[in-house]
Amino acid sequence: VLPELKTMMRYSLLAPCKRFRPVLYLTALEGLGMARHQGRHGALALECIHTYSLIHDDLPCMDDDDLRRGQPSAHRKFGEAQAVLTGDALLTLAFQLLAMDPPSVVGSMVSELARSSGIDGMVAGQLLDMEGHVEGGNLEKLINIHRRKTGGLISCCLAMAGQRAGRGHSEVASLRELGASLGLIFQIQDDILDCVSEEGDLGKTVGKDEEQGKLTYSSLLGLEGAKERLKMEVMKAEELMNASPLDPAEVKPLLHFLANRSH
Ligand code: IPE
Ligand code: IPE
Ligand code: MG
Ligand code: MG
Ligand code: MG
Repeated sequence: VLPELKTMMRYSLLAPCKRFRPVLYLTALEGLGMARHQGRHGALALECIHTYSLIHDDLPCMDDDDLRRGQPSAHRKFGEAQAVLTGDALLTLAFQLLAMDPPSVVGSMVSELARSSGIDGMVAGQLLDMEGHVEGGNLEKLINIHRRKTGGLISCCLAMAGQRAGRGHSEVASLRELGASLGLIFQIQDDILDCVSEEGDLGKTVGKDEEQGKLTYSSLLGLEGAKERLKMEVMKAEELMNASPLDPAEVKPLLHFLANRSH
């Protein structure tokens, strides 16, 4: 790998953060009877895609954010074109890594990751997010944005775990649905934290959504309304958890973390 490219990729990828997506994937894999090491390519691929999405999300032409994972965002550190290319490199590396999984499962996993991070998921959601404003916004539009921009990849973590473990269509579908619910919870809390956090705790700029007039749970429903929706969505996720092939006892701590996290 070109040394300067490697430096830039490592800067964003290895900065302190939650690693929620790989942890969710590996937890689910274990719950489906697989060993954690069997999930190493998938876990890395998920974090590469996620990190690329953060680098691009912060660009001046998107959210124009200077702080990410407690340090200057990639374009502030290395320049804008460099940040775009670092994102591209992480995006493509994700598929290079995932392609190393066994041939019997890799086709469905690649397809899941591509769709949920691309035209059916995150990229589409990011486009709608750019166009969405509080004025003229409604709950239906908001859910559509969040389900795609954040729910897509989080849902993919659980669906991909099912595929890696060789489970059939209906089990994968139920995992995908549970993941979508977790993704919505994740982004509702992200919207709340943008209003109530301290920058030092969050590691990214606070109050950015309000400043840019973004359509978020807190801007549409108010802080209390957003917290109410969060509770409703947690109850829904608990039901989906009971109907999923996973042991609820194993996923519950992650759900609890999502709804109560402070960063
Ligand atoms: C932030 O993701 C972007 C969203 C999808 C809301 P995280 O909150 O998972 O960020 P890191 O990975 O911990 O930095
Ligand atoms: C971004 O949502 C979701 C992505 C796909 C990156 P936000 O724009 O709210 O994420 P943060 O708050 O900047 O991390
Ligand atoms: Mg954004
Ligand atoms: Mg942003
Ligand atoms: Mg946010």
